[in-house]
Amino acid sequence: GKLQVIDHPLIQHKLTIIRDKNTGTKYFREVVNEIARLLAYEVSREMPVEDVEIETPLVKSVQKQLAGKKVVIVPILRAGLGMVDGMLDLIPAAKVGHVGMYRDQETMEPVEYFVKLPSGLEERQMLVVDPMLATGGSAVAAIDALKKRGANNIKFVCLVAAPEGVKVLEEAHPDVDIYTAALDERLNEKGYILPGLGDAGDRLYG
Ligand code: PRP
Repeated sequence: GKLQVIDHPLIQHKLTIIRDKNTGTKYFREVVNEIARLLAYEVSREMPVEDVEIETPLVKSVQKQLAGKKVVIVPILRAGLGMVDGMLDLIPAAKVGHVGMYRDQETMEPVEYFVKLPSGLEERQMLVVDPMLATGGSAVAAIDALKKRGANNIKFVCLVAAPEGVKVLEEAHPDVDIYTAALDERLNEKGYILPGLGDAGDRLYG
């Protein structure tokens, strides 16, 4: 899939706010949603449109409306939840599916602990959202879970990505386009993104 770094000035400014360790929970949550809203605008850029005939106050006219696949936003629990409201602001008709993943502390393998998705995934445009793409383990496992249930049109949307995670996700799921607000430098020895923004789940939910 292609990697798109959405480095719009508004996004860069807002990312700086959430990277700052002095930004508290309430403001962090607000700005995560604001960035998610801006990312939704870019992610929806290629959505198909179709002709529709309307009447303006003056004449009959053929104009455009959204067509095609129904969107499902799929946050990876927990931190992905922080991006859902912002995405829904721009795509209010979207459904929301949930995928929970945790890392088994011994094997370090991601384990599915909760999956609840709408029906008919074959026909839908899935947007998997998570603030962080670090090692890529969670994203790969979440997308495995969607594909196992029939999804075939998937985009992944995050705030910060490490090159290591991008590579892992691209190799496991070459059909999935990746949208990120920033491509960071690297992972540290504990698998955290540098410079990153810390643990997004903890900063959102404590
Ligand atoms: C974080 C983050 C991703 C994952 C990224 O979640 O939100 O889901 O780590 O790391 P990876 O690319 O190495 O898999 P975390 O495991 O902290 O859980 P939480 O969202 O419930 O806090």
